[in-house]
Amino acid sequence: MTTAATMPNIAPSSQSDPLQLIDVDYVRFHVGNAKQAAFFYAHCFGFQIEQVSDLTTGSRDSATYLLTQGNIRFLLTSGLTVEHPASMEVAMYGDGVKDVAFTVFDAERAFDRAVKNGASVAPGGEPRTIRDTHGTVTTASIRTYGRCIHTFVSRTGRYDLPTIKQGGVFSPSFKRLDGGIANIPSDGAVGCAPQSGMGTSILSINDYNRKNPCGLKYVDHLVGNVELGKMNHWVKFYEDVLEFKMFMHFDDKDISTEFSALMSKVMSSGNGLIKMPINEPAEGKKKSQVQEFLDWHCNTPGVQHLALRTDDELHSIAALRSRGVDFLTLPPAYYDKVWDRVNTMLKQHGHEAVREDHNRVRDLGILVDSDDEGYLLQLFTKPLQDRPTLFFEIICRRGAQSFGKGNFKALFEALELEQERRGNL
Ligand code: FE2
Repeated sequence: MTTAATMPNIAPSSQSDPLQLIDVDYVRFHVGNAKQAAFFYAHCFGFQIEQVSDLTTGSRDSATYLLTQGNIRFLLTSGLTVEHPASMEVAMYGDGVKDVAFTVFDAERAFDRAVKNGASVAPGGEPRTIRDTHGTVTTASIRTYGRCIHTFVSRTGRYDLPTIKQGGVFSPSFKRLDGGIANIPSDGAVGCAPQSGMGTSILSINDYNRKNPCGLKYVDHLVGNVELGKMNHWVKFYEDVLEFKMFMHFDDKDISTEFSALMSKVMSSGNGLIKMPINEPAEGKKKSQVQEFLDWHCNTPGVQHLALRTDDELHSIAALRSRGVDFLTLPPAYYDKVWDRVNTMLKQHGHEAVREDHNRVRDLGILVDSDDEGYLLQLFTKPLQDRPTLFFEIICRRGAQSFGKGNFKALFEALELEQERRGNL
């Protein structure tokens, strides 16, 4: 049973497969105010505000902050001009996910293969390489559902992924905010000093987060919401274009309450590293949570939630709650039945019972579920912005590879309560 939240290793022989996805290189959010969003994710979720690309580094049309925690890299981008796509997309959708980027061995080859498989090129997504004396970063992007894209990223020299994970500069257009490793490209535009005015506050929040970690390790899965009747279209897209396989699926009998329902298919990359469930609404007496998302997202598909993996759910949830993160509240009756349900199944399959303190699990409001491989602990935040769109899931797997099917009913009832409060049920 795997308990440590470490990424699987990729065998060198797999370099011959152009669509071999090595890692989630980054998740880019388009946000209304990247500087302020950086502080929200740092304060509430414990991210390090590491690097920036903005006017001071020669970026004239957008500002981007790199936030990191474990092996999670978020890019928060705001447009500085009305023409920048982030400005228009924030006006349409509010803050949300724009790009789920994959590290590959050769971005151009991955892109060519995806296009040959039927992908559309994202606007401005043709392969390009930026370089300086330290190395190169090559990117190429294809479209997926809605206005979301997937960027393939390959890196050389000081910009390779192992160096980035050690705090190296993300690409030639970035600079560190804490006076760390200097990045001095040939044009000399980028230095290593902390930014005046922001340096002190960033240093103090980063220092606090280093001393008080939230324990988030990497992106476990990313869920997309698509329109009614479009799930199978996007399943086929991931099968054909990115050569993913269907890992599991749920229909409205699995995921429904008296009032609302959804259907979901989980797509997985060839090596199992990247999991991308796709949801569509299903008919119910009242509005599906997927339809609520679409209603507030210009009826356009998009990323509904990111699941962030931890080795210690109790520690992570306690830390996030103490920082002010709002989580979904479950009906207290949930804990009357959960231990019997979960531990009976674990025993049937010869696994250890849930080892976390049951009272603490209940007091922290954490959900528990099991499958034939083990159990998992999970909890969902409320929306991260005013619109009921993107949220996070905090997940810890003790062997289980599923997604919490046993919690769907309790969870949906909790979600419906929230929808009702918003007048959206
Ligand atoms: Fe999830």
